[in-house]
Formats: sequence, structure tokens, C-alpha cells
Amino acid sequence: MNEQIRTTKNSAASIIFVTLALSIGYAILRYHIVGPVLWKDFPFFILNKGLCLAAFILLTLNFSLGPLNNLGARVSPGWLNARKAMGMTGFLLVMLHALMSFLLFSPAVYGKFFDVNGTLTLLAGLSMLGGVTAFVVLWGYNMTFQTFLREDKAFIQFITSRKFMLFALLLGAAHLFFMGYEGWLQPAGWHGNLPPISLVAFSVFAAGYVINLFGRE
Ligand code: HEM
Repeated sequence: MNEQIRTTKNSAASIIFVTLALSIGYAILRYHIVGPVLWKDFPFFILNKGLCLAAFILLTLNFSLGPLNNLGARVSPGWLNARKAMGMTGFLLVMLHALMSFLLFSPAVYGKFFDVNGTLTLLAGLSMLGGVTAFVVLWGYNMTFQTFLREDKAFIQFITSRKFMLFALLLGAAHLFFMGYEGWLQPAGWHGNLPPISLVAFSVFAAGYVINLFGRE
């Protein structure tokens, strides 16, 4: 990893702003403008989708910019210096997403996650298992920035290792895959021919996974 970044330039604010604007904008376009969702659902149901997409992109960038630089892509110092802020912001957005999802989680809102008897379907169970374990793993990753753990070199090495990062990314991908793949295979049902947010995030994951597989030392 290139840790010797001498410049103080940091592009975090603009990267975070643009990612949030594009992600929320995509959710508005897909669900309100070309889709059937009422605007009254924007402040919670649709905003939740935009926020978790932004979280996913920021976390993938945080994990992948170093390895991308190792692969010779010449990532600018301003972007490399932004990694910590992107990781923290991504984690906070995931927390927001988890809290919002808990409040919304009912058959009336997420009919496809529930069987007729009100229990979770197998796919929803697997998806939520991926989501909550990814959340806990991200929490562990964030803890490594706390000073009391920084002294534990073996723990830091493990948690920032290639194996661990690939595992963390896979959990997030499982969350998306089990929730979305049935809809991914039916493009005729996509609002305005725009791919579902779970598929957009999964494509970001796939790129990040390959970059980490080859570029992380
Ligand atoms: C406690 C942990 C989590 C819970 C309870 C949870 C719950 C949910 C729920 C209920 C949905 C469906 C939202 C919808 O269709 O409107 C969803 C979608 C999603 N989640 Fe999570 N999630 C969790 C963790 C995560 C994590 C760690 C990430 C990754 C950073 C993440 C990223 C996403 C993304 C990108 C979507 C796709 C939204 C869509 O297709 O509309 N989630 N999650």
C-alpha cells in the first residue's frame, strides 16, 4: 500500500457529496420519476435506498483505492488521503440504513421478503444474515482506528489483510445477491429500464472484489 502520501490535499468532501447526490438522484429517478412510488415515500423508504447505495460505493472505494494504486492506476493523492473519511462516512451511512430498515421492516413495505404466514422467506433470511454480519464486520474494521486497538499489531494486520477484506466484501455482496437476483433476471420489469439499486451496488462490489483480489498486498 502507498502510505507515503506527502501532500495534504484531501478530496473527501467532494467525493462524498458527489456520491450522495448521484445515489439519491438515481433512487429518485428510478422509483419516483420513471417508477410508480409516491413522493410521500421519499423521506424514508426511497432515501434509505439512496443512502445505502452511497454507503456501498464509499466503502468499496475505501477498500479499493489502495489496491488500485498498487496495480499502477495512479490514484491521485487527494483521493488516497480521502480513504479514511470515506470509510467513516460509509460506516455511518450503513448505520443509518440499518436503523431505517429496522423501522420499515414489515410485510406491508417489503412484501417479497415475507411468506404468507408472515415469516421470512429463505432468500430474505440469507440476505439479512449477509447484511447484519457485514455490518458487524464493518464495525470491527472501524474499531481498528481506535487508539486502544492500534497497539495490537496482529489484530490490525489481520483486519486489514486481503483475506479479511475479501470476506467483508463478500458478506455485503451476499446481502445484495439474495435480496435481488430474481429481479436482476427480469429486465422487462425494471422501472424505465433502469437496473435495480441492488444490481448497481453488486456491480460496484464485483469491480472492487477483482481490484482487491489482485491489488491488495
Ligand atoms: C443491520 C444490517 C442491515 C440491515 C438490517 C439491512 C436491511 C436492508 C433492507 C431491508 C434492504 C431492502 C431495502 C429496500 O429494498 O428498500 C436493504 C437493501 C440494501 N442494503 Fe442493507 N441492511 C443491512 C446492512 C447493509 C450493509 C452492511 C450494506 C453495505 C454497505 C447494505 C447495503 C444495502 C444496499 C446497497 C441495498 C440495496 C437497496 C435496493 O436494492 O433498493 N446493507 N438492506
